[in-house]
Amino acid sequence: MLEEQINRGNTGDVNGQTLDEASILEVKDLHVQFHMEQAVIRAVDGVTFSLKRKKTLGIVGESGCGKSITAMAVMRLIQSPPGKITGGSILLRLRNGDVCDITRLSAKGPAMRNIRGAEIAMIFQEPMTSLNPIYTVGDQIAESVMLHRRLSKRDALEVSLDMLRKVHLSAPETRLKQYPHQLSGGMRQRVMIALAMSCNPSILIADEPTTALDVTVQAQILDLMGQLQDSFDSSIVMITHNLGVISDIADDTAVMYLGKIVEQAPARELFENPRHPYTRGLLASVPVLGKKNRKKLIPIPGMVPSPTEELKICAFAPRCSHKGPECEGGVPPLREISPGHFAACYY
Ligand SMILES: Nc1ncnc2c1ncn2[C@@H]1O[C@H](COP(=O)(O)OP(=O)(O)OP(=O)(O)O)[C@@H](O)[C@H]1O
Ligand SMILES: [Mg+2]
Repeated sequence: MLEEQINRGNTGDVNGQTLDEASILEVKDLHVQFHMEQAVIRAVDGVTFSLKRKKTLGIVGESGCGKSITAMAVMRLIQSPPGKITGGSILLRLRNGDVCDITRLSAKGPAMRNIRGAEIAMIFQEPMTSLNPIYTVGDQIAESVMLHRRLSKRDALEVSLDMLRKVHLSAPETRLKQYPHQLSGGMRQRVMIALAMSCNPSILIADEPTTALDVTVQAQILDLMGQLQDSFDSSIVMITHNLGVISDIADDTAVMYLGKIVEQAPARELFENPRHPYTRGLLASVPVLGKKNRKKLIPIPGMVPSPTEELKICAFAPRCSHKGPECEGGVPPLREISPGHFAACYY
């Protein structure tokens, strides 16, 4: 059906661009801006990455660097106005093998409605913002299942119960009839994951899924996501400001700073051999989950520049202890410094 809609409207035309065989999603030179009365906010400023099939991509960076807006652009959930995708493409491989450019679809059209949930699902930092307080857990999951699959309410509730079991929620029959406020934070996040996975999407975008939870529950949720990824064959984009969270689960990692990716590498390589001073700063400033390190945590000094100015220098230069004369002479491009390892730094 989706294919039909896309072809009919010709809106998802990929315009001659190709998607790498191993990839399911490719974001190319994406720009998202917010046109405010006073200024233009460059929230995402030329981001390029690809998500490989059945792999996990971690996106990390400090608050405000554009992680959520990148994810919202992929879901076409940017509030417009004032927000707008002003450039780039987002190529998605659909379940039937076709490729479409998400930026060319209508945000509210039927093709995009189908993609949300059935092809790409997203879970948010604060489950209470995405769970509806006036519906029971069972009704919410069933609703979403009925929207995407032709099932009766009875069968959809059966699917919901099965999903609650898959996310290892205790007493799933009871939970099905409960309201979100009757559950703990960890349980709500499990319900969110059940809701996201209920239509068997090929991509799951998790935006800070564990930030509101304590460390033990965080580890359980991450572990659960790994298990589900194996059984559902899904690809995951894991967004976090904490490098520790993704050290165990990501295959690839992209580090964002002020709307740009400044370093990108296979996760192990990035953790063992960080090349950008910003990544090194991030690594020094967070405890790594599950590792018994008692290292002293060192915060990165200084402030992130305003995203309203178009910078002609390296945006990290004002905070960087390694900066040289070149750093204030231009914006360093993302260069491949060893196979598969990219960094945007002159040094
Ligand atoms: N609705 C909006 N209107 C105007 N500016 C916005 C809006 N939403 C986000 N922005 C701006 O876009 C930039 C990127 O925000 P984004 O939410 O993507 O950051 P983030 O990396 O997800 O941060 P955090 O770790 O705090 O979630 C920020 O400068 C933010 O102020
Ligand atoms: Mg965010």
